[in-house]
Amino acid sequence: MRVVSVVNYKGGVGKTTLTANIGAEIARRGKRVLLVDLDPQASLTLSFYRPEQWRQTLQPSQTIKHWFESWRPRGKLRDPLELVATPARANFWIPGSGRLDIIASDLTLSEVEEDLVVAAHGAAGGRSGRDFLRVFGRLRDALSLIPAGEYDFVVIDCPPSFGMLTRSAVLASDFLVIPAKPDELSTVAIEHFVDRFAYFGSVYDGAAVRLRSADPQDRVSAVILGVVFTMVRFQGKAPILAEQIYIDRHHAGVPAFRGVVRENHSFYADAASESVPLVLSDRAPRLNVEEMRSLVTEIIGRIGDPHGD
Ligand SMILES: Nc1ncnc2c1ncn2[C@@H]1O[C@H](COP(=O)(O)OP(=O)(O)OP(=O)(O)O)[C@@H](O)[C@H]1O
Ligand SMILES: [Mg+2]
Repeated sequence: MRVVSVVNYKGGVGKTTLTANIGAEIARRGKRVLLVDLDPQASLTLSFYRPEQWRQTLQPSQTIKHWFESWRPRGKLRDPLELVATPARANFWIPGSGRLDIIASDLTLSEVEEDLVVAAHGAAGGRSGRDFLRVFGRLRDALSLIPAGEYDFVVIDCPPSFGMLTRSAVLASDFLVIPAKPDELSTVAIEHFVDRFAYFGSVYDGAAVRLRSADPQDRVSAVILGVVFTMVRFQGKAPILAEQIYIDRHHAGVPAFRGVVRENHSFYADAASESVPLVLSDRAPRLNVEEMRSLVTEIIGRIGDPHGD
């Protein structure tokens, strides 16, 4: 099982859209994929479920919040598979043995994040280093309870920040993908992310070494696969020059994917209300579908064979 997180500090750069399409495309190719919506905004969840469906069927007992909340003293940990839902409309378009599941989010996940900060650092700073390691590892532990062979890929949609939730996702991940718009602020955000990621790795791994943890999971081992440029404006067959300049820049040593996601306001706005990602939609423009599919091929190419563990 490969775990990929889609991350960027910057809001509105296409993280959720990319997460939904990477997951859907891999499932369309016959793999079993679990999406995890780690953003309190719940945009990923709402790109598969109508708000009333989410409120009635998932929010009461089937969201990622319920996993984090089951970490109570003397509480019983939830089985992560009990939290999994299978969005019917999207799966209707997935042929054969492929499957696309999701662990939904909840608007109050931001309160969970506050609890995680307290649990990791201690309200009065009195917690042990082991608590620090364990709290960051809660999402990783959830994924490690999933039986081997249940999923080929897990794709996690992160909130636009580098708080506890995103850091838990980073720790649980084998790979990271960074979507960015080809503009000044988004490309600065890439460098900032790479910097904070390295710092988190040094703090976390440093704590693990000090505590003599021999557990190989107690290390930040995620590899940044690359930057995906999103919402790119084209003139003819190529991005407009003003955006190509940002695509060609050096991004803190992170390679950009050759494939980009071009801007298409009318389609992406409709796709959310259809509950079917672009790559599964029979109404999506072929050009955009082909572009997204070849980007996913490139991402999988950088990941390598999912059965190679
Ligand atoms: N290629 C695209 N062209 C036009 N609009 C797009 C494209 N990709 C995404 N969008 C739209 O842009 C908005 C932001 O996209 P998305 O929600 O995927 O970004 P995000 O990075 O997850 O945002 P947030 O940081 O708030 O979680 C959405 O309304 C989405 O429909
Ligand atoms: Mg999002």
